Amino acid sequence: MCGIVAGRTSGAVTGTLTEALARLEYRGYDSVGVAVAQADGTLQVRRTTARVEALVDRLAADPVAGTTGVGHTRWATHGAVTEGNAHPHADCSGRLALVHNGIITNADALRAGLRERGHVVASDVDSEVVVHLVEEALGTGLAAAVEAAVEQLTGTWALAVLDALTGELVATSHGSPLVVAEGPEGVYLASDVAAVAAWIDDFRVLEDGHVVTVGETTTWRHGGHVAEPPLLRRCTISVAELSRELYADFMSKEIDEQPLVATRVLESWGAPAQDGSLWHASGLPDFARVAVLGCGTSLNAGRAVAGVLGRVAGVPTQAVVASEADDWVVEPDTLVLAFSQSGETADVLRALDRVEHRGAPVVAVTNSAWSALGRRADFVMSCHAGPEIGVAATKTYTAQVLTGTCLAIAACVGTGRLARSTGRAMVADLGRVPDLVAQSIGVAMQAVPTIAAATSEASGFLFLGRGIARSYADEGALKLKELSYLWAESHASGELKHGPLALVEPGTPVVAVDDGSSRMQASLAEVRARGGDVIDIGGPGSALPALGTSGGIPGIDWCGPLESVMAMQVLARQVAVLRGRDIDKPRNLAKSVTVE
Ligand code: AGP
Repeated sequence: MCGIVAGRTSGAVTGTLTEALARLEYRGYDSVGVAVAQADGTLQVRRTTARVEALVDRLAADPVAGTTGVGHTRWATHGAVTEGNAHPHADCSGRLALVHNGIITNADALRAGLRERGHVVASDVDSEVVVHLVEEALGTGLAAAVEAAVEQLTGTWALAVLDALTGELVATSHGSPLVVAEGPEGVYLASDVAAVAAWIDDFRVLEDGHVVTVGETTTWRHGGHVAEPPLLRRCTISVAELSRELYADFMSKEIDEQPLVATRVLESWGAPAQDGSLWHASGLPDFARVAVLGCGTSLNAGRAVAGVLGRVAGVPTQAVVASEADDWVVEPDTLVLAFSQSGETADVLRALDRVEHRGAPVVAVTNSAWSALGRRADFVMSCHAGPEIGVAATKTYTAQVLTGTCLAIAACVGTGRLARSTGRAMVADLGRVPDLVAQSIGVAMQAVPTIAAATSEASGFLFLGRGIARSYADEGALKLKELSYLWAESHASGELKHGPLALVEPGTPVVAVDDGSSRMQASLAEVRARGGDVIDIGGPGSALPALGTSGGIPGIDWCGPLESVMAMQVLARQVAVLRGRDIDKPRNLAKSVTVE
């Protein structure tokens, strides 16, 4: 995990680094630090286990001059959250500073060797060994030294090394994201283009093994030789998209953006989905079955799409938890739909190794088309959600469900499983989603504060759903637990009586995505009989009439009540607000999990 940034700018670099770090904080917020080259060839380093704002205050009180520097925001994997373990890490001479995102799995052996050779390895962090390995090879020049160092590593990395003596920056990557961009005021390196979007128009994505040197000029190497730079890509992120505007937190803004995002997805993918032309353009082969792959919210989105494929076209589907894919038997003629907002989730990328070994085609459903997942997939479905800053996924979930559903329609029409007229009718149905989503948010904003206040004594929540709605209930439970730090379990409603009912006592909140069926009503009666507090979304007489059926706009049966998720997002946020949680940066988490 973690976010890295580096810059060589025409003016003072610290403000650039801290601004970029604030935009990268979603990648981890256990500690933050910068190192800047000084005119006398030394380094100035500032690190803290507090947040970026604290680092900014510290730099204001104790300024650091210099135009070339590196910065890092950490999500701890190896070593406790201490200032000593915070990046940047320096070599023994104090000439080099390194920032790293990824994981070095042979760090213990390398550290032992370095200590035998007389190095002082000061921290418990795997990353620090790299800067000492670079130090050992520095006589060959910084770029060659970085190449020599990474040859000794196993694991993943995106790293940047600053040489204070020459003012040079060298960066390379292997399995972790890194972009390079040049603007009028300087050259920048970052884990995510959003970090530097305010200062550039175009950027390049490092491929594994690229080594870039940023000095008087910018030069590229690959495999020990001079290389052409990677493709120049247009940065389409606007500064407004990166601003919280007048919202209390990014999550509220991102919840509100969902009708617009849904419209954007349908404008992009609806027409080519309904006649199957999207499928034909993809060049993908016919399939016998579909596996959806992902983690967390993305897996929940995949499960919803799998539910649609099964329900409308009888396609056999399987949901694969990417972090548990080692025992996955990839059956012949499987089409793999890999869901990942970031496209950088290490568990998903590792699961792809298994898929590629079996030769199964992969479609990436991602918010980052140029990510590692996007580059490895046979076909990319971009989710068009725009940058999502809150660690809890909201608008990207909705975008993934809709994008994946358009792909499902295209695949079924394109392979003759569904008639074109059915495809057209389904896309027309999806045209109601933006209004359903807006209605659900509106209803929830009115009703949820009272409902959330009534849960103040609760130690945990149950979530219930049936069929595809079960996947929506799963997403509601995930949102609630990550934001409020209360336990939240999701179950198929019929399973309640087979065990989970024992958790229900007077006042236990039970959130139901209520399809109005007699089986759901029977489950809710069982809860009420034990004094449980049913938070009914959409059922008869519901306090939260957020579903199409109860809200006025007709719902869409075949994809289940996607709009229930918005009500649960608002509920999760409100419960977290009442408990004083950090909405955009829940404890222990980071948005992009680039370690296994
Ligand atoms: C959800 O709110 C979390 N951010 C998390 O579950 C996330 O969905 C998961 O880590 C997968 O990330 P990805 O979509 O970037 O692959």
